[in-house]
Amino acid sequence: MKLSHMATAVALVVAGSAAMAGEVEVLHWWTSGGEAKSVGELKKIMQAKGDTWKDFAVAGGGGDNAMTVLKSRVVAGNPPAAAQIKGPAIQEWAAEGVLANLDPIAKAEKWDSLLPKAVADGMKYKGNYVAVPVNVHRVNWMWASSDVLKKSGVKSMPTTWDQFFADADKIKKAGFIPVATGGNAWNDFTTFEPVALGVGGVKFYNDAFVKLDPKALNSPAMKKSLETFRKLKGYIDQGAVGRDWNLATAMVIQGKAGFQFMGDWAKGEFVAAGKVPGKDFLCAAAPGNAGSYTFNVDSFAMFKLKDAAAQKAQADLAVAIMSPEFQEIFNLNKGSIPVRLNMDMSKFDDCAKLSAKEFVETAKSGGLVPSVSQDMALKPAMTGALKDVVSQFWNDDKMTPETAMTNMVKATSNQ
Ligand code: BGC
Repeated sequence: MKLSHMATAVALVVAGSAAMAGEVEVLHWWTSGGEAKSVGELKKIMQAKGDTWKDFAVAGGGGDNAMTVLKSRVVAGNPPAAAQIKGPAIQEWAAEGVLANLDPIAKAEKWDSLLPKAVADGMKYKGNYVAVPVNVHRVNWMWASSDVLKKSGVKSMPTTWDQFFADADKIKKAGFIPVATGGNAWNDFTTFEPVALGVGGVKFYNDAFVKLDPKALNSPAMKKSLETFRKLKGYIDQGAVGRDWNLATAMVIQGKAGFQFMGDWAKGEFVAAGKVPGKDFLCAAAPGNAGSYTFNVDSFAMFKLKDAAAQKAQADLAVAIMSPEFQEIFNLNKGSIPVRLNMDMSKFDDCAKLSAKEFVETAKSGGLVPSVSQDMALKPAMTGALKDVVSQFWNDDKMTPETAMTNMVKATSNQ
């Protein structure tokens, strides 16, 4: 080939790839140490494809702040390419007509055969894919500092609430904070959820929080759940108000506190700090939660875009998220398990292996339930209403369980 011809060929290739490479703006709320590491892996994969990653991070555990910012961007007609949206909110956004149809990608990549059907159904609106799932987080975990338990004479993870309070007393006596917790409405409900499930059981949980049955919302099981929740408050520290969840995890990591109730994104923090599960820290189902599993599937909904290069980058993102490479590396960092079926779990730790096993087992036994606190069970407005009541009860020691229950029924009556 003559030199001039070669130059033209090179120029064409360069121009071609430049035209294909696009920018992908991704809204998420993954800003803690473990979360940032995890999302960093997605950024790397996208950059390796030649796409430009535009980070749109809005801090705030649980994503309440991120959702507020997203609304204003979409209303202004300037949505990001992708946003971390999950659960029934996916349907609400799709009904607004702002989400892209991902079916051509889903068909080419065979998503229907790579995902559990219930998860795939949640990603679709009127039968078309509009979102891509990232992982499965388990929420009803209890984390513990091995060191604090040892120094307090607690030999194993408590499996009942009675045992838990007896152990918490020992930890208090030994001079540690028994329970590390953050302090905002999202964190309060994240703690309340495994209490209610552990105290009331799966049927009660489903009736109250999935079906919003007033008879379950105002019942002896709810009263006992609220009383147990209030008792738990006697074991937290003064500084909890307004604290972020990851700073509470840090208290367990640093051996200042014994336990934390949090989904397994907390494990991402332990791992990012170089801590080893089973040695430095322990994971177990929250008391009374063995045999049940509150699930939380993170996902990205994709918005309709006009620019062809941006659409191509968005498609690259959708393909990347479902790839085995991403599903492994992301979830190893994030504390969750892959949502893609038949993944090799050999690199995962025992907490993740337990989660994977119990995800399958509880799906068969009926113990698999959507996490209300992580927006998987109800429409966002309803979750918000319940969160507010639980948070008011947590913050106001004078509010009786009866008032809280009446407020729950009131807040959810106009479904
Ligand atoms: C998300 C997790 C996230 C956590 C704390 C949850 O709702 O599903 O991915 O790590 O909030 O920000």
